Amino acid sequence: MENSLTTTWVQSEEKLVQYRMALLNWFDEQRRDLPWRQDPSLYKTVVSEFMLQQTRVSTVIPYFENWLNKFPDFDSLSQADEKDVLKAWEGLGYYSRARNLHQLSKTAANWKQPPISTKEWQSLAGVGPYIAAAVTSISLNQPEAVCDGNVVRVLSRLFAISETFKDGATAQKKLRPLAQKLINTGRPGDYNQAVMELGATVCHRSSPLCSICPILSYCESGRKGDWADRPQIVRKAKKIARIRRFWVEYKRSLLVHASKKTRLQGVYELPDKLPYSGNFTDLNSQVLAIRKRTIGSVAYTEEIHQPYKTPPLPDPLPSGYAWMKWSELKNFTLSAPHRKWIEELWV
Ligand code: ADE
Repeated sequence: MENSLTTTWVQSEEKLVQYRMALLNWFDEQRRDLPWRQDPSLYKTVVSEFMLQQTRVSTVIPYFENWLNKFPDFDSLSQADEKDVLKAWEGLGYYSRARNLHQLSKTAANWKQPPISTKEWQSLAGVGPYIAAAVTSISLNQPEAVCDGNVVRVLSRLFAISETFKDGATAQKKLRPLAQKLINTGRPGDYNQAVMELGATVCHRSSPLCSICPILSYCESGRKGDWADRPQIVRKAKKIARIRRFWVEYKRSLLVHASKKTRLQGVYELPDKLPYSGNFTDLNSQVLAIRKRTIGSVAYTEEIHQPYKTPPLPDPLPSGYAWMKWSELKNFTLSAPHRKWIEELWV
């Protein structure tokens, strides 16, 4: 791939300067007015970048605003209960991000000076190359290029890269050196945000808005019109899985379970196992509902079974299980799909 770039404008320092200027001028005029860009701080950058990994900007905005009201700085976050941290994250998914951010705040609350090297940032839980580069460039002015899905799309088109990447992570890793070559070292944070912003608002996956693109004259795919073929990333075949869930009610309370082990640690769902030594098939039950959801590349069908009679469950319940009263529905941290199903099904 590098070979195909040796003949492009990337080799000309003068062209590189013009390209960066075109992109930054566009960003200065068109940047979205996002809450973490108002009165920016290291804390706002860290929180927003944790939230933005895997989640789109429009979903993140209200969560970010609520988060800042609840936990305005590293100190307040570090002193918060994990239960409250997860509650404020409820609905964003990938809850390990919230736990890692909480853990990071306990380290950050003791910093005299934040570290400026991406290596030190990457030694913190939940911080990979993307967050390390985003935070150090945006908040600490370090010339570290980010390479997320948006950047991969922009660069693949800019240079009409024909290589087929085996997955998105591989594409990000392989294109990072190119992103690094393009970065504006004077305004690295703005440059990084400009490429991501261009990917999100102009260089769409389908139907990109080439006619208003500030760097169209540098774009090989824009010239050839082959943007639809870039980037080439092997799409994973969807896996299919079935899960049996249980709907067990007792005195207007519903049995819920929070796993200790999985990525959903501390987040309640309808249980997929009953704390009951008998055989479930011996209980008379009905299928109350069948619901579908997709997590990553797995399409789940969740069958919700309701026994006609409450099975004899231990009192107290084993750890991880809880009886949730209807009146407590708002206080429990539930995964977003399960909250929706429970609200639909609880009559
Ligand atoms: N996507 C993730 N982080 C971003 C940022 N800081 N600006 C624009 N898009 C982003």
